[in-house]
Amino acid sequence: MSSYISNDTRKVTTHRLWEMKQRGEKISMLTSYDYTMAQIVDNAGMDVILVGDSASNVMAGNVTTLPITLDQMIYHGKSVVKGVKRALVVVDMPFGSYQGNLYEGLASAIRIMKESHADAIKLEGGEEIIDTVKRIIASGIPVMGHLGLMPQSINKYGTYTVRAKSDDEAEKLVRDAHLLEEAGCFALVLEKIPASLAERVAKELSIPVIGIGAGGHVDGQVLVAQDMLGMNNGFSPRFLRRYADLHTIITNALQQYINDVKTMDFPNEKEQY
Ligand code: KIV
Repeated sequence: MSSYISNDTRKVTTHRLWEMKQRGEKISMLTSYDYTMAQIVDNAGMDVILVGDSASNVMAGNVTTLPITLDQMIYHGKSVVKGVKRALVVVDMPFGSYQGNLYEGLASAIRIMKESHADAIKLEGGEEIIDTVKRIIASGIPVMGHLGLMPQSINKYGTYTVRAKSDDEAEKLVRDAHLLEEAGCFALVLEKIPASLAERVAKELSIPVIGIGAGGHVDGQVLVAQDMLGMNNGFSPRFLRRYADLHTIITNALQQYINDVKTMDFPNEKEQY
C-alpha cells in the first residue's frame, strides 16, 4: 500500500493535477476544516485538501450546507492552510456568496483568497453561474467546478438521491461540464451521479474529474474526512467506504479517561510535578 504514497514533497499545483490526469495517476482528495486535522491529512500525502462547506454539517451540526457564512468558511480555510505544506488547498464558496451576480461572486472569491491564503476556490453549478466562473478565473483565481448533486440546491431537489438519471439531466450535466472546462476551471467535482455518466465526462474533458459517489472511472476521489474515518456512524451511503472506526476508538479512550479520573488512577506519581 505505501508504494502509492508519494515522497515528492513539492507543493501540489493545478498544473500538477492536470499532469496526473495525463499520465493516469489518480488524485486523492479529502476534506479538512481545522489546523490539527489538516496537518495529519497533508502529512499522509493527500493531493488535494477541500475545505468543504460540509463544515456546516460536520463542524457546526447544521442539517444542510446552506447556513455556513463566508466569514466562517474563511476561518476554516485559514486554519487549514496553516497546517498544510504540500496539498493543494481548495475552499468552498458558501451558499449566498456568489449566486446573486458576478461582482458579488468575484468579491467573495477575492476575500477567500486574500484572507485564507488558499490555493483555489470551488463553487456549485454550470451554465447558470458561468459568467461568475469566468470573471473569477480572469482575476487569477483557480476555480474547481461542482456538478451532479449540489447540496446548496437541496431545497430545490428536496432529496439527496442520485442525480442525472434522466437523459435530460444527464445531457445538461455533460453540457455544463464542457462549459466549465471552456471557462477555464482546473478541475471538476461530480457528486452522486451514475458511474457510466461520470466516466463519460472524465473521458470527454481534459481537466481532472474528481468523483464522490460517481464510480471508479474518474480521475480521482473525494470523501468527507469524518465520514471515511467512521466518526459519525449515522451516515452510511452506498458510496462511503469506512477506513477506521474512530467513533469507537475515541469513545473507548474517553471512557478509559473517565474511569481513571474517578478511580484516581490518573494522574499517577509520574504525571505530576
Ligand atoms: O463540501 C464538501 O465536502 C464537498 C464534497 C462533498 C465534494 O463539496
